[in-house]
Amino acid sequence: MASPTPFLSIFLFFLITVSADPDMLQDLCVADLSSGIKVNGFPCKDAANVTSLDFFSQALANPGLTNNTFGALVTGANVMNLPGLNTLGVSLSRIDYAPGGSNPPHTHPRATEVVYVLQGTLDVGFLTTANKLISQSLKKGDVFAFPKGLVHFQKNNGDVPASVIAAFNSQLPGTQSLGATLFGSTPPVPDEILAQAFQTSSGTVKHIKTRFQPKK
Ligand SMILES: *[C@@H]1O[C@H](CO)[C@@H](O)[C@H](O)[C@H]1NC(C)=O
Ligand SMILES: *[C@@H]1O[C@H](CO)[C@@H](O)[C@H](O)[C@H]1NC(C)=O
Repeated sequence: MASPTPFLSIFLFFLITVSADPDMLQDLCVADLSSGIKVNGFPCKDAANVTSLDFFSQALANPGLTNNTFGALVTGANVMNLPGLNTLGVSLSRIDYAPGGSNPPHTHPRATEVVYVLQGTLDVGFLTTANKLISQSLKKGDVFAFPKGLVHFQKNNGDVPASVIAAFNSQLPGTQSLGATLFGSTPPVPDEILAQAFQTSSGTVKHIKTRFQPKK
């Protein structure tokens, strides 16, 4: 009879590899040590009150308005407006782009994204941690993947509107748009931090910051 040791080793190895912390489902989770509720995400609604509407959304049915600074709009169907997605680890968005519009460089801290082009053409890309640009021109029906956490963008260089459906392996992927995050935060990131990071002057940093002020 074989010694149980190899089996025990395999079992322990498996146990260790599946014992990492669970993925975060929200940006922050400051511990409330006095609360009786301990949960990553949202607590569950009483089953008696669950209806089909909790699993239904028309949020993506119509094109979003693209008459904004970037000429594009992201519309989400995630746990915030489709509460049945809580704990399921998936969500969708649609993104609409005016001619010339772009979804500027950003990351999703909690999800890989796969886009499917509904209409128009798009130039898309992402950057690896080795700073290699992986880019592609897409047309209607094409699919492209953006790996979890990597900086990526989409730009409509065509002369007609474009739109995509984006799928995420998170109920709330989260978005950090680099321009808005670095130059539009509250309170602001100090000018000298950004001047040194971008190897430019504080004057240039101040100028960029004026473009990312929250609309009053
Ligand atoms: C169902 O929802 C109603 C209205 O929000 C609430 O008053 C009631 O307590 C809920 N029932 C259960 C079983 O949670
Ligand atoms: C965008 O267009 C909509 C509908 O035409 C209009 O109501 C809205 O005020 C416009 N927004 C801007 C920022 O121009």
